[in-house]
Amino acid sequence: MIYLDHHATTPCDPRVVEAMLPYLTQHFGNPHSDSHEAGREVRRAIDQSIDSMAAILNAPRESVVITSGATESINLAIRGVLMHPRCKRHQVVVCETEHPAVLEVADDLSKQLSAGGQPIEIIRVGVHPHDHPSAGQVDLVQLRAAVNNQTALVSIMWANNEIGSVAPIKTIAEITHEAGALLHCDATQAVGRLPVDALASDVDLLTASAHKFYGPKSTGFLVVGNGNRRVRLRPQIVGGGQQRGLRGGTLNPASIVAMATALRIAIDEMESDTSRILTLRELLWGRLHESIDGLQLNGANWHDDSSVRLPGNLNVRLRDVEGEAWMAATPEVAFSSGSACSSTEALPSHVLLAMGLTESEARRSVRFGVGRFNTADEINSAADQLIASHQKLVG
Ligand SMILES: Cc1ncc(COP(=O)(O)O)c(C=O)c1O
Repeated sequence: MIYLDHHATTPCDPRVVEAMLPYLTQHFGNPHSDSHEAGREVRRAIDQSIDSMAAILNAPRESVVITSGATESINLAIRGVLMHPRCKRHQVVVCETEHPAVLEVADDLSKQLSAGGQPIEIIRVGVHPHDHPSAGQVDLVQLRAAVNNQTALVSIMWANNEIGSVAPIKTIAEITHEAGALLHCDATQAVGRLPVDALASDVDLLTASAHKFYGPKSTGFLVVGNGNRRVRLRPQIVGGGQQRGLRGGTLNPASIVAMATALRIAIDEMESDTSRILTLRELLWGRLHESIDGLQLNGANWHDDSSVRLPGNLNVRLRDVEGEAWMAATPEVAFSSGSACSSTEALPSHVLLAMGLTESEARRSVRFGVGRFNTADEINSAADQLIASHQKLVG
């Protein structure tokens, strides 16, 4: 199996596994037991891990809240702001291409009342269409028009998980703060792949998941405040009072040490990883494009400016075959259709539809995500298989 689905998840780096193992066996104390050294030594390891992550993210150390991953962080950020008793505003602005973890929280909130007793209103802003140079990026004119003195929170992702588009976060933060609102940024696909600086970008709430940067699954964090303004959150998980009451429950030392190790490696090796992954994506795109008639790129073209798109991301559209059929015909390559699975029904990607593609075009699209451990041999072998299976399908 050649794994080319690194936006879905990444394997744990062996160095990460090595760092976390002692915290499952030797150092097993409860980090919240401070009456003995078994607990205190584990607490110190957690504190060092949080210090290290905060320094990398340029965020105050007390702003890092450990969660079970991006979905929980997003829930805490969005519900937490809107449900805080002192939140007087009732609107949330999101982008149409957000991950379902954001869109579904927003939809759920739209059935509830704000702390001030008004129905919560969700405003969705669009993105630039597929033939625009900034295809898939949030439309800042629409954003400016949507944000006002009733907006409590804007939630816009740093980098899109399907088409890899990278948002102009600093400008989004300026627009948000001019209206006196807070900015939550789902940086799940960006952390570990791009330099993410909470203070320089002026993001108020920042979400990440360790398994997207070669750490373990079900582990993540939420940065709550960058030191520039006060962020009030109503906790979503209570009981035990851990993490200053913001998120109850015993911390998992092994996964926190692992997440910090994974982030440190990602930062130290970002330059070399990025340049290798860019070369491999180019190889994959070049091979498929030259051999598959009518193959189109979905999303921004990176050839003039590689910063517009996540380094390993490739999303392509076939002229004549559905993505699901291509995947089924290429079982030795792991890649995904641009669709999100909702129960039993595979829906066309809401991201591609938001960019103006038709349902049929969206169904003929697939996503590849090249990662740290892929090699040129693997990319060539995957391309051979993909070209051959496509050829078989078109007859
Ligand atoms: C952009 C984005 N946000 C949120 C999530 C949810 O992450 P998790 O399942 O780790 O909670 C994902 C995972 O695919 C993602 O890509």
